[in-house]
Amino acid sequence: MEKTRSVIRGVGHNVPTQVVTNNDLAKFMDTSDEWIVERTGIRERRFVEPGTTTSDLALPAVQMACERAGVEPRDCDMIIAATLSPDYFFPGIGTVLQSKLAMNHVPALDLRAQCSGLIYGLATADAYIRAGMGKRILLVCSEVQSPILELSNRGRDMAVLFGDGAGALVIEAQPCLNGETPSSKNSVRGIIDSAMGSDGSGAQQLFLKAPGSTTKGFLTQESLDSGDIHPKMDGRVVFKNAVTRMLEVATTVLERNGVSPGEIDLVLPHQANLRINDAVREKLGVSQERVFNNIQKYGNTTAATIPICMSEAVEQGKLKEGNLVLTLAFGAGFTWGCNLIRW
Ligand code: COA
Repeated sequence: MEKTRSVIRGVGHNVPTQVVTNNDLAKFMDTSDEWIVERTGIRERRFVEPGTTTSDLALPAVQMACERAGVEPRDCDMIIAATLSPDYFFPGIGTVLQSKLAMNHVPALDLRAQCSGLIYGLATADAYIRAGMGKRILLVCSEVQSPILELSNRGRDMAVLFGDGAGALVIEAQPCLNGETPSSKNSVRGIIDSAMGSDGSGAQQLFLKAPGSTTKGFLTQESLDSGDIHPKMDGRVVFKNAVTRMLEVATTVLERNGVSPGEIDLVLPHQANLRINDAVREKLGVSQERVFNNIQKYGNTTAATIPICMSEAVEQGKLKEGNLVLTLAFGAGFTWGCNLIRW
């Protein structure tokens, strides 16, 4: 069988128009622009208007990705969707998008890898393509998190961090001419390598408890009163784990592909905290201008952060054909991972 490679043909994004500044949040809780900027780098985020669903938010992102790829959504033979904030508890947004996009009855696979959604999704798409099980895959990462945040003093540690947003990628199978696969040593476009990890002992360090089967009755008045319906986090534990795991997985992939940090054209890291990204960048030995950050404008949009970064980097001319690109993420689960791509 002829070898195939996975090429990202188009990437798009969509964020809500409503801008919520740090000062806007300070009207609901004891916080300040200074505290949030100093600890996280975030200046503002976007919130959807009430009633906009996660699949709704994704539609313009898919449209943009498809236009840039020169295809229609119905030309894709699979959907992979990553979100922690779906339209319904079940089913996932993959099937909902299939219908809204008027796609054929293709497989729709929903991924629950939280902030690592793009990495896991890209690795999965690449595996399907290399195995000959997909020719053109639509990867959608979308989050509507504003309704689950607790905009009060009790929820302020989480509420200031997150925002809403969506990104989408069209990933296509292309033949490997003369059997030559994408690598850090040639100019063949495609996904070169991916690595992922998880550690479920950290599940309760960053989670949303209810509704869920650990709650007797699934969702109770007590869940509402205690705040179990809002995300909770041990920020310091998550911070330390994020730096350690992102560094570890990036080093593994760079070493096994013979790439020195200086050879990477662009790092597209998850956007949870500017200080996390700075610490990882410094320890990896990559210069500041080679790391793309936009957390200042959008906060943490969970699975959507990396595709939004990708799409904006393309628009700004910072991500060009032939570049060697490293994605990098850590999130709830815990999950983490990276992809090495010849763009
Ligand atoms: N505004 C003002 N004060 C706040 C606040 C807010 N929004 N949220 C918490 N605080 C207070 C706390 O009550 C606490 O007060 P205390 O010291 O009197 O008890 C103090 O600020 C906490 O400070 P500190 O622990 O020094 O904060 P930090 O430097 O660890 O920063 C985070 C907090 C959340 C920004 C940081 O831990 C972090 O980014 N963690 C990882 C986040 C992450 O990656 N999440 C998602 C992973 S995908």
